[in-house]
Amino acid sequence: MSFLKLTGALLALATSLVHVAATPVDFASHPKNATVLILGGGVTGVIAARSLAQKGITSFIIVEARSELGGRAQDAKFGAKGKEVTVELGCNWVQGTQTGDGLANPIWGLVKKHNVKVQNNDWDNITTYDMTGANDYTDLFFESEDAYTTLTVGAGTRVDKKLVDATGRVGYALTGWKPQTPQARASEYYQFDWEYAQTPEQSSWIASSWGNNFTYDPDVGGFGGDNLMAIDQRGFKTFIQAEAATFLKPNQVMFNSTVTNITYSNSGVNVTLKDGRFLLADYAITTFSVGVLQNDDVGFSPPLPDWKEEAIQSIVMATYTKIFFQFDHDFWFDTQMGLYADEERGRYPVWQTLDHVDFLPGSGVVFVTTTGDYSIRIESLPDSQVKAEVLGVLQTMFPHVKIPEPLDFMFPRWNANPLFRGSYSNWPPSFFSQHHQNLRANVGRLWFSGEAMSLKYFGFLHGAYFEGERAGFLLAECIKGGSCVEDQVTQDVTNCAPYKI
Ligand SMILES: Cc1cc2nc3c(=O)[nH]c(=O)nc-3n(C[C@H](O)[C@H](O)[C@H](O)COP(=O)(O)OP(=O)(O)OC[C@H]3O[C@@H](n4cnc5c(N)ncnc54)[C@H](O)[C@@H]3O)c2cc1C
Ligand SMILES: *[C@@H]1O[C@H](CO)[C@@H](O)[C@H](O)[C@H]1NC(C)=O
Ligand SMILES: *[C@@H]1O[C@H](CO)[C@@H](O)[C@H](O)[C@H]1NC(C)=O
Ligand SMILES: *[C@@H]1O[C@H](CO)[C@@H](O)[C@H](O)[C@H]1NC(C)=O
Ligand SMILES: *[C@@H]1O[C@H](CO)[C@@H](O)[C@H](O)[C@H]1NC(C)=O
Ligand SMILES: *[C@@H]1O[C@H](CO)[C@@H](O)[C@H](O)[C@H]1NC(C)=O
Ligand SMILES: *[C@@H]1O[C@H](CO)[C@@H](O)[C@H](O)[C@H]1NC(C)=O
Repeated sequence: MSFLKLTGALLALATSLVHVAATPVDFASHPKNATVLILGGGVTGVIAARSLAQKGITSFIIVEARSELGGRAQDAKFGAKGKEVTVELGCNWVQGTQTGDGLANPIWGLVKKHNVKVQNNDWDNITTYDMTGANDYTDLFFESEDAYTTLTVGAGTRVDKKLVDATGRVGYALTGWKPQTPQARASEYYQFDWEYAQTPEQSSWIASSWGNNFTYDPDVGGFGGDNLMAIDQRGFKTFIQAEAATFLKPNQVMFNSTVTNITYSNSGVNVTLKDGRFLLADYAITTFSVGVLQNDDVGFSPPLPDWKEEAIQSIVMATYTKIFFQFDHDFWFDTQMGLYADEERGRYPVWQTLDHVDFLPGSGVVFVTTTGDYSIRIESLPDSQVKAEVLGVLQTMFPHVKIPEPLDFMFPRWNANPLFRGSYSNWPPSFFSQHHQNLRANVGRLWFSGEAMSLKYFGFLHGAYFEGERAGFLLAECIKGGSCVEDQVTQDVTNCAPYKI
């Protein structure tokens, strides 16, 4: 070992010792409110609780800021008086259900178990538009679909050859897809941004490809190609709330309880709430979104170690926004989906109708989705401006229709919401395997879980499910004294082929 390396190692050791030593709170002698605190009552939190309970650990409390379980499975009543329907503000689909008797999406299992109403959503059932109104460029649309598959195949080749990651854009170009028109860019957007909520430039080529494969491609370990859209008027959240009702006791959950600070050590945790109350426990599992962790909405004492902070800041919390309209009558497309190509990529591109024989006929509801930076842009605008812009786009799509005044209009601001700070995680090309391990690793008695910690299914509901199960089962083993497997941590993530500067 060189002198420099040795000094570096000693420094790293000293830093890690400082982190443990800074506030050596000894919780051992204090009476605890519970053995485990599960911070957040989304899918991860509920499944972590169920997993602990299955292993006989029942002394836990789910601590949730909102007044119900579900997290990003969240809906709203929308529409004019007498015409209200339940619309999903967050997650809406069970993605990639099951092929034959292959691996099943566990969310699909819960949806069936609790009779949540879902309907097949055919993403290829689409009408295409551009700045001139209706314009059939479906050939190009299907070409972009093939280009997307080619992109994922190219990523597999890179993995086989042990090549470094690159952006999705690099991947597209190297595999021969070079969109040069608004129509081609909109088609690409539909395949890529509409899934990852960020552009190919902002996303990892390799991780986006395995992310696609493990959910949608049964040939390479995925569930299958279907997308079931929840149209249950009790809300999609019913799948997880009904599951919670099968095991969760009233004293195992606290609602309206916003966590502001977490003090942790090797002997326990102290979780402080906004109203000044606090809870002591042997362990805590945070399931807060990485957006919450990134934005210091919760304070940690001692501060999280550098390796953890770097991992948290290295993944991205992307934003996906559905903008809802209700009209007196349906004047738009008969297909399930619509695609609009604007001069500006990502400007109000993907349209879905709920007023469709397969969904909520007669509802008068149609919605458009924006993602990424465009979502951040509209979140900072007043509702009236966003509404006017989208109505302008509808006028462009339907030049021969006098667009009526909508009966209702609404969109959620996921990025500004301090309980979420975005919609779901996306993997950038500078997020390495060691970052992923560090993101998930526990720090003393504080464990980390949630959608973003899922290697194969980051961003998805089933990612949240599997991560909750993993944390619950591992922690139960640890508590029962079997084996406390310390997650492996990389103090310094170094490049496999360092830059030469
Ligand atoms: C618009 C949108 C569309 C999506 N579409 C789909 C889809 O179609 N299919 C799919 O599979 N996935 C989809 N997802 C992703 C999916 O919803 C998430 O991956 C999943 O719900 C994450 O669950 P979680 O338990 O890890 O996190 P969360 O659901 O975020 O749970 C964390 C909980 O912590 C609570 N919390 C946060 N801060 C605090 C605090 N300080 N104190 C106390 N409590 C706090 C929150 O209220 C929340 O309940 C979508 C998400 C969004 C937002
Ligand atoms: C939480 O707050 C909501 C609204 O503020 C209230 O309706 C609900 O009863 C509260 N729930 C609990 C468990 O305190
Ligand atoms: C969309 O689906 C409907 C009903 O299944 C079918 O009649 C129609 O031909 C489809 N259109 C396209 C463009 O796929
Ligand atoms: C994704 O699936 C394709 C098959 O459709 C496969 O060729 C490719 O290697 C996979 N890519 C990754 C990154 O796993
Ligand atoms: C836990 O934190 C609260 C402040 O939020 C503090 O009053 C209390 O003393 C702490 N308990 C322990 C054991 O550290
Ligand atoms: C947790 O336990 C401590 C000590 O027994 C108690 O003071 C505190 O009120 C409890 N917290 C809650 C939220 O019940
Ligand atoms: C609580 O966390 C906030 C950051 O979110 C921090 O400013 C504050 O100092 C923390 N308070 C305590 C008592 O640690």
